[in-house]
Amino acid sequence: MPKSYQIAVIGGDGTGPEVAAEGLKVLNAIAKDEGFSCNVTQLDWGGDRYLKSGEALPADALDQLRKFDSILLGAVGHPKVAPGILERKLLLDLRFGLDQYINLRPVKLFPGVETPLKGKGPDDIDFVVVRENTEDLYCGAGGFMHKGTPNEVATQTAIYTRKGCERAIRYAFEYTQRRNNPKGKKLTLVAKTNVLTTGHDLWWRAFQECAVDYPDVETDYNHVDACCMWIVKNPEFYDVIVTTNMFGDIITDLSGMIQGGMGVAAGGNINPEPGGVSMFEPMGGSAPKYTGQGVINPIATINAVSMLLDRIGETKAADRVMQAIMKVTGTKMKSQSAGKMGYSTSEVGDLVIDAL
Ligand code: IPM
Ligand code: MG
Repeated sequence: MPKSYQIAVIGGDGTGPEVAAEGLKVLNAIAKDEGFSCNVTQLDWGGDRYLKSGEALPADALDQLRKFDSILLGAVGHPKVAPGILERKLLLDLRFGLDQYINLRPVKLFPGVETPLKGKGPDDIDFVVVRENTEDLYCGAGGFMHKGTPNEVATQTAIYTRKGCERAIRYAFEYTQRRNNPKGKKLTLVAKTNVLTTGHDLWWRAFQECAVDYPDVETDYNHVDACCMWIVKNPEFYDVIVTTNMFGDIITDLSGMIQGGMGVAAGGNINPEPGGVSMFEPMGGSAPKYTGQGVINPIATINAVSMLLDRIGETKAADRVMQAIMKVTGTKMKSQSAGKMGYSTSEVGDLVIDAL
């Protein structure tokens, strides 16, 4: 019996469904070629559903999703829904509810893709950020006092747990070992221990204690502000970075730009535990102004599909999709920006399939 995977697709808002469709096209093509199949269920969760029903996710959303092998997400963000609602009620609730405690962000400059960094090429820009994905300022702890008055007080508390940082750190060490960079296996902790002397002290100690178990991995430490500087000046310094949720959010957008922007950058929200359900997404938003025009770049979503394949264990398929992406960016596409690719959204999907 050929292997069959249950895949949920949340196209989401704006151009999300268009790029998800291209990702699926590539997924089905590689599956056919490699002799497995994907049984796809489309879920209409997102802004439109929220506007009709008042809820972004059905009450049993997590139970539904736990039955799948993996999830592909298009984009969230609807022009008629106030910012912050769908982000929290859809994206973050899924990350937290499915305990996707790793946000994995490969930063790789594909051939033919322009980087704003002068004098840097694909050999220099090739690292991975492991971002803790469930704690820190994202946990929603805080509140107001005297809201709307001149005496207003607002608090927003970063929460770090030993379990939370240790599981992210161990994942990052193991990932560094698996990645086995021929230039040397190196894991850099990025934090702000000089100022955040409690929470990031916890991270620092957990990092040192875990490092003993991975003697083949060289370790390094950067304060987050210095890291932003080095990412721009010497991105080749990095192999794998492990960092907190909030800092990870910021440095992955910075990194996304040096790898060619939101048209190519992808990420995975990973629950690494046995039976854990992970969710893969392009990094860009829903770009509502381009909806329905066929101009949005699907490469980031196809990149997310490659990550999804790797996660479900179809590593050869994942690698073939990655090679095909690089052929298409290197030899076909004029640009990675919406409307300037030299091809339509679905033509780019077709090119990747031809290159498989
Ligand atoms: C990301 C996004 C999200 C985050 C937003 C949309 C809540 O910026 O995936 O990086 O902050 O994690
Ligand atoms: Mg972000």
